[in-house]
Amino acid sequence: KKYVPEPFRIKMVETIKMLTREEREQKIEEAKYNMFNLKGEDVYIDLLTDSGTNAMSQEQWAGVMVGDEAYAGGKSYFKLLDTARDIFDYKYIQPVHQGRAAEKVLFGILMGEGKYAISNMFFDTTRAHVELTGARAIDCVVEEAKKPEVRAPFKGNMDVEKLEKLINEYGPEKIALVVMTVTNNSAGGQPVSIENMRKTAAVCKKYGIRMNIDAARYAENAYFIKRREEGYADKSIKEIVKEMFSYGDMFTMSAKKDTIVNMGGLIGVKDDEKLFQDVKGRTISFEGFITYGGLSGRDLECLAIGLNEGIDESYLEYRNGQMEYLASRLDDAGIAYQAPVGGHGLFIDAKKMFPHIPYYEFPGQALAIELYKEAGIRTCDIGSYMLGNDPDTGEQLQASFEFTRLAIPRRVYTQAHFDVMADALIAIKERAKDVKGYKITWEPPILRHFQASLEPL
Ligand code: F0G
Repeated sequence: KKYVPEPFRIKMVETIKMLTREEREQKIEEAKYNMFNLKGEDVYIDLLTDSGTNAMSQEQWAGVMVGDEAYAGGKSYFKLLDTARDIFDYKYIQPVHQGRAAEKVLFGILMGEGKYAISNMFFDTTRAHVELTGARAIDCVVEEAKKPEVRAPFKGNMDVEKLEKLINEYGPEKIALVVMTVTNNSAGGQPVSIENMRKTAAVCKKYGIRMNIDAARYAENAYFIKRREEGYADKSIKEIVKEMFSYGDMFTMSAKKDTIVNMGGLIGVKDDEKLFQDVKGRTISFEGFITYGGLSGRDLECLAIGLNEGIDESYLEYRNGQMEYLASRLDDAGIAYQAPVGGHGLFIDAKKMFPHIPYYEFPGQALAIELYKEAGIRTCDIGSYMLGNDPDTGEQLQASFEFTRLAIPRRVYTQAHFDVMADALIAIKERAKDVKGYKITWEPPILRHFQASLEPL
């Protein structure tokens, strides 16, 4: 596949450097083989996440200068409301400092002890905020999502039949919320179709359950719908986004992804005034006054501008083109990944690359470490290492996948960087049988992957 040329030119640069192999081996050992312990300056290409690592445009940087820092009723707040209402068609919009803040504010109102929330797949923090209220989180993704080699256009979809079964099994009154994550990050940035959103919304309506859209990567999802779903080729991204959001009752959004800013989040409520009153109350307690929601005025200004830049079709075509370019180089080399490639990165199938490393020796983490040693590339494990232990027995759990995620920051890296990524993976594949697994030498009780220490076996 040909690389889609950037629809921008570069006006400001940030120097990065590649350490020598000896230095990299020393740094990763000092970091106890944990990617989160590495210093940013010791990384050449940083693919740890696409969240908050995006490059702002000249218009956004100009927005930094004109952001209104009034405590209450600032101009940038109203600009953000107008822009968000225009795109999503929701009556109520509340800024917060990031996605998990939106989850904390909203979920605490909607659920608690004895309740359940069902999603096509919860992101870690979203699951955590469901469980912090005392409720339980249940994943309900379509089966093909669990088979990296099976190519399907909408592998992020909700399993609608199973959803209805779960609702009847637990009782509709016990289901506090259905959460539709677009794109489905944990399944590899895989999209959800409009048809699936419509059917899920219909099931929710039938049982009187509300649907929340976890909208971090809504624009990338809309782009996939335009390219893959029948009847949408001639619609604009904005029209598709409007239709997607019409199926939800509310949304939580980390604006650090598709809205192309470094910090920010949103809550949207379609028309429930009472619910929004509660959202405002909790925002004031946890985030700050409602007209800034834990952000600076300049952040609100950049967020408003980013909302429109994120749904620009030529930008989305370039962005998706980067993923497809890297994926096609991996296809040529016979390297398996969650296919077809998702919206925000490549999820390499580390189980396939290292069949000799069992899940309890963490193949996804082993590949992440090799990528750093090979080319100074920082990625992360999305597999058993991240999943952790059974809270009751303390035993290591086995994840459905062993992925190493190359999450691509927006508007940051060039074609040559993508070639460095592909070349590194190819080099590792050639010596794959010599790569060894890891064991954990220290771990905290929860969310261990951020802090644990490891040792090669
Ligand atoms: N929902 C989804 C689908 C996410 O991917 C994330 C964050 C959040 C919610 C939480 O948002 O970080 O702004 O508080 N995902 C990042 C990642 C961290 O690396 O995938 P946040």
